[in-house]
Order: sequence, then structure tokens, then C-alpha cells
Amino acid sequence: MSDSNLLEIGVIGCGSMGAELAQAIGPHGIKGARVVALLDRSPEQGRALAASLDPHPTFFSSEQEFLSCGAMKIVAECASQAAVREHGVAVLESGRSLLLMSSGALMDPELFDALTSAAARSGAQIIVPSGAVGGIDALRAVQYDLDSVTIVSTKRPAALAGAPGFADWENKEISSPTTVFDGPAVEAVKLFPANVNVAATVSLAGIGPQRTMVRVVADPAAPGNVHEIRAKGGFGEFQFRLVNRPHPKNPKTSHLAVLAAIEALRALVNPGLRVGT
Ligand SMILES: NC(=O)c1ccc[n+]([C@@H]2O[C@H](COP(=O)([O-])OP(=O)(O)OC[C@H]3O[C@@H](n4cnc5c(N)ncnc54)[C@H](O)[C@@H]3O)[C@@H](O)[C@H]2O)c1
Repeated sequence: MSDSNLLEIGVIGCGSMGAELAQAIGPHGIKGARVVALLDRSPEQGRALAASLDPHPTFFSSEQEFLSCGAMKIVAECASQAAVREHGVAVLESGRSLLLMSSGALMDPELFDALTSAAARSGAQIIVPSGAVGGIDALRAVQYDLDSVTIVSTKRPAALAGAPGFADWENKEISSPTTVFDGPAVEAVKLFPANVNVAATVSLAGIGPQRTMVRVVADPAAPGNVHEIRAKGGFGEFQFRLVNRPHPKNPKTSHLAVLAAIEALRALVNPGLRVGT
């Protein structure tokens, strides 16, 4: 394929996820596409990633210049909720589809409305990959036939340290599995922000943040970040259990989330046979 036929992609966020995603685009990974532009609030991160890619995309620190770059069709956000707030509407208004990884940003009703209205105006898509969880396709398929959805997230106490909802437990010895939160996703995302993307993605695919119930369990023997999704309704019921390893470069991010981002981008770039989407 000649360079002029390659689908041009921009990446916001050049950390662990953005770097692995960008490196997966090209003749040895996601064929038919190339990364042309990077945006990051850290010039060091952005320039280092640009230098590591072949051909080198251009690193921008200004949104305006980033969005003026070539015939970019898709922007992958791999940065933060703040980045979605700062750049999401402008990306969508410019007609580029937005692959959005910081799905917790969609729990803010005003931002949700602003993004979906911008997408409706320009015809661009907002794509939220399954990220660190699975079963999202099944959940979406039965979204109008659901009675209950629960997600139980079990993590080692160290992985919960610093969360506002864990403050009362910080100095206590936890020697066995202990429930530290049990309530609706809309509350969980405030008290356990590190769980926010998972709770947001499950809520958005199913019955929303008020009705999706979240339990957070601290377990010193947890084999990783474990997420169990249970759904029941007229269709029957299902359970998914994921034991996620952390990303080697960012222990807060499950490696599965990066792989899910790459697969979602592959589906956008090469829309041939797709299974389960
Ligand atoms: N959907 C999911 O299931 C899921 C799972 C894991 C992580 N995530 C989210 O994906 C995002 C990326 O994760 P990561 O591990 O690559 O993080 P990271 O910290 O390794 O990298 C983030 C990069 O984005 C840049 N950045 C942050 N805010 C920015 C802004 N406002 N404008 C421009 N650049 C900005 C940072 O400088 C950094 O280079 C995070 O928001 C994380 O919460 C989602």
C-alpha cells in the first residue's frame, strides 16, 4: 500500500498505553495505517515516542497544530480524563473519530453531553474499547433486557492506597479479603477513581452508573487486578472473571487495556471480517 493510501492516526497521550498503541501501528502490526501526529502535555514523553517510531510522526504541544495535521481520520486518546475534557470536543468537531480510553470521563454528565453532541454534529464516532474488562459485547447485546449488573473488583491493599474510599483502611492490617466499598457505580467512581474506567465502561454498556453495583475488595492474596462482572436478566445470566496483570511500564494500567485499545483500532482500520463486535 502506498503511503498516500494509509489511514492517518493521531495519538493524544504518549505514556505506556499511547506508546504501545503507536508502536503497534504499521506494517508489522495494524497494517493500512500510520501515526502522523502526537500530542502530550509532556514534551519529553512526546518527543521520545516520536523519535522511536518509523516513520517519525510530528509531536505537537498545541491542540490547534495537532488538529491541523494532514488528513488525520482517527484520534486515539490514551492520556487522562483531563485530556478528554481539554481536547475531546475539538477532536470530534473537527470530524475525527475519537477512540477514547479514559472512559471515566464519560461519567460527567455535562462532558458526556458535550462529546456526544459534538459527535452528532460532525458525524464522527466515539469509540470506547472494552479496556481492562471483557464481556462488554454480551452486556451491550442484552442492555434492554437486564435486571442487574454487578462488578466486583479485587485488588491488593497497595493497589487501593491513596483512594479516598480507602482512607479509613490505610493504617489497618488487612489479612483476608475485605469489602471496602459496596454501592452504585456513580459513587464508586468518586471514592475509587482508579476503578473509574472499568466501572464507567460496564455502566455505559449496560444499565448506567446509578443501577450498576460495584463492590471493591481488598485482598492481600489477590493474584492481580481481578474484575468479576455478573449480569442477570430475561436473557439468562453470565459471569466474566478477569485476572489482569499490570502493564510493565505503568502498574496502574492493566496490560489487557492496552491490548484492547490496539484491537479496537485494528477493527477501525481494517473493517473486514470482525468476530464478536
Ligand atoms: N478503559 C480502561 O479500561 C483503561 C484501563 C487502563 C487505563 N486507562 C486509562 O488510559 C489512560 C492512559 O493510561 P496510561 O497507562 O498510558 O497512562 P500514562 O500515565 O502512562 O500516560 C499518560 C500520558 O498522557 C499524558 N497526558 C495526561 N494528561 C494529558 C493532557 N491533559 N493533555 C495531554 N497529555 C496528557 C501524560 O503526560 C502521559 O504521557 C489513563 O487515563 C488511564 O486511566 C483506561
